[in-house]
Amino acid sequence: MANPNLSAIDDWLNAAWTKMPKRYHWLLLQTLATREDRRAWIHSWRLAPGWLVVDVGCGPGIMAHEIAAIHGCRVLGLDRDASLLAVARDLNRALACASVSFQHGDIYDALPPSPVADFAVARFLAQYASDLTLFFAHLKAWVRPSGEVAVEDVDDAYLVEYPQPPSSWQHIVQAFQQYQSGTQGDRTVGRKLAHAGVAAGLALQDVQLNPRVMVRMLNPDDPSVEFDIMRIREELPNLIHEGLLTEAAWTQAERDYRATFPQLTYVSSATVRVLFRRPGG
Ligand SMILES: C[S@@+](CC[C@H](N)C(=O)[O-])C[C@H]1O[C@@H](n2cnc3c(N)ncnc32)[C@H](O)[C@@H]1O
Repeated sequence: MANPNLSAIDDWLNAAWTKMPKRYHWLLLQTLATREDRRAWIHSWRLAPGWLVVDVGCGPGIMAHEIAAIHGCRVLGLDRDASLLAVARDLNRALACASVSFQHGDIYDALPPSPVADFAVARFLAQYASDLTLFFAHLKAWVRPSGEVAVEDVDDAYLVEYPQPPSSWQHIVQAFQQYQSGTQGDRTVGRKLAHAGVAAGLALQDVQLNPRVMVRMLNPDDPSVEFDIMRIREELPNLIHEGLLTEAAWTQAERDYRATFPQLTYVSSATVRVLFRRPGG
């Protein structure tokens, strides 16, 4: 198959996510849960069949294959995590998709030898950048003059849950956010993207706040409840090591949080999506 189709990607994701290493479950679950919204964003890009798109920080390669499926492009996925790239290559083999390939490496190690791509995308990668202007300088170096750069990331200022979770769980979430603001990711990076891209010499084309709201009866085993718990549990040893939490506080909070369900729950969140053009051409 030259380019995959979206239902083949869904079939693989549905069957494969539980078989992947446990530390990736939250990422795969999130990718599965947000696919409609992400695909609508990909659809909105102006790409021509055969163009080369670079997906920087591609993780398990789901979006790389979605781009190929939607636009008939060639896609090169880059990531520093070799075991996530093994997941991406598994998917690539299952889809027999020659137009998508993957390369291992840290984006800050070296600038690409030439601006080979027509378009670059980085989704949920900017939050890990210690210097956002440098991050954009590296993205820009991938694309030819007049090529475009699309970036999506979070801004937790828009995160609202009603009814509010029990105070023991709110304490856990705050400890997690404090931990993330260290080396594990800036949860307010979304609002900073436009400034940093312009500082790196990119021309701003479009900025969108992308809100998502959900109101439904949530059960204790609902994937979105599981996802929240899983994501923090994965980092629990580090949170305890840094003195931000105790094992006992975690156990109590998880019990309290699960006990609030089933309950009709409102959750709103938002990402920021920014599109730039590389000047020239
Ligand atoms: C939250 S995941 C997002 C994956 C994917 N873009 C998505 O939207 O599903 C962040 C990814 O960025 C990768 N990453 C973080 N810093 C990186 C760097 N400096 N160079 C290359 N990859 C990086 C991580 O290994 C991880 O796969």
